[in-house]
Amino acid sequence: MSTNKLDISLARELDVLKKEGRAKSPERIIEQYIPPKGKFGPRYKLAGNDNEFIRLNSNSYLSLSNNPELVAAADKASRTFGVGPGAVRFIDGTFILHDQLEKRVARFVGKASAKIFNSAYTSNCGLALSLSNNKTHWIGDRLNHNSIIRAMRISNIPSKNKGIFKHNDMGDLKRCLDEAGPDIERVIVIFDGIFSMRGDYAPINEINKICREYDSKFKDGVITVVDDSHGMGAYGDTGRGTLDFCNASPDIIIGTFGKAFGVNGGFIAASRNIIESVRQKADTYIYTNPLSVADCAAAIKAIDICDSDEGLLLLKALKERTVQFREGLEKLGLESIPGPHPVVPLMVRDTKKTHVLVKYLFDHGVLVVGLTFPVVPKGDETIRFQINAGHTSADIEYVIELLNNFQ
Ligand SMILES: Cc1ncc(COP(=O)(O)O)c(C=O)c1O
Repeated sequence: MSTNKLDISLARELDVLKKEGRAKSPERIIEQYIPPKGKFGPRYKLAGNDNEFIRLNSNSYLSLSNNPELVAAADKASRTFGVGPGAVRFIDGTFILHDQLEKRVARFVGKASAKIFNSAYTSNCGLALSLSNNKTHWIGDRLNHNSIIRAMRISNIPSKNKGIFKHNDMGDLKRCLDEAGPDIERVIVIFDGIFSMRGDYAPINEINKICREYDSKFKDGVITVVDDSHGMGAYGDTGRGTLDFCNASPDIIIGTFGKAFGVNGGFIAASRNIIESVRQKADTYIYTNPLSVADCAAAIKAIDICDSDEGLLLLKALKERTVQFREGLEKLGLESIPGPHPVVPLMVRDTKKTHVLVKYLFDHGVLVVGLTFPVVPKGDETIRFQINAGHTSADIEYVIELLNNFQ
């Protein structure tokens, strides 16, 4: 047996991806972390390159990934329990740190209960598998993250039981709610908290209000779900992200430990019965090994830090650096999308210029992501800058100066 025929077909398919501009570029390999030095924050070295790079494309908004307390917690957990769980959760793969992290995250977001997953991606998929039946109707924002789109696809509902509303358009959300047929018993409205390509946020308070107006029309009501993977821990007065910012809490909260909290893994937080349904029905929870105890211990420490005076200081530093960067762009007359979040898109609006600018920044030791068609519509070509609490004022000045010299 050989895979020659398949390899040839796949090579053709990969060529098509390249021609359509949808192929991912080769992965760069980080081979060294360089701690902050003098007035500058952390730097990274890449394989095959002598430069030191500043990362403005990291989701580690609170800059906790290399925090000594997190590393020590992970280390202690591994030494105590080993590095792997040995089984899935329901076959004695549940360790005390899994239980502690679930209780900690539920308390942090103000819900009765929570379940942890290997990622926010699998959390979304697990939720869809747990809540859907053929009388369920799913409604989502058009710009929702791929994991939510995938979750809606695997929810096994008939295609008529699905609505997509225009991004953050409350009138269009109502249209979708009106379209849910008389046979529908349960409506799930799901949306990103922060939309990661743009840094703008869902108006949770308005969405909740509209959904409440429709709640009595359906036997099980209208359930709101936010996936605030980019928002949680990254902004808001107490680090609760979009919940803080909108002063509103949806029925179900999904998040990740892999961004602001600097670790890995995802969670769903909700009422006890919803979480017990997740435990019983979510295949992406049931049939896969859980997070390592090291991840759990580090994530608990990250939430503890976020929820303390130290966390408030980190959030303050993050906000100051974000404002500094936004003001720098504004002074240079560069266009962005306004918002409170450390994702700051630079609207370049030209494919070639986006590629040239990303390369120029790379050559000067700055890692960023360029987004061009078909990832974004033609004319919306963007460079996404992500600020984090480890960036110093001198780091931001350096990047702004580079942009100034490029113009
Ligand atoms: C809204 C949303 N959900 C889920 C994810 C994926 O998070 P994780 O890496 O924990 O699967 C992301 C991140 O890219 C996201 O933006």
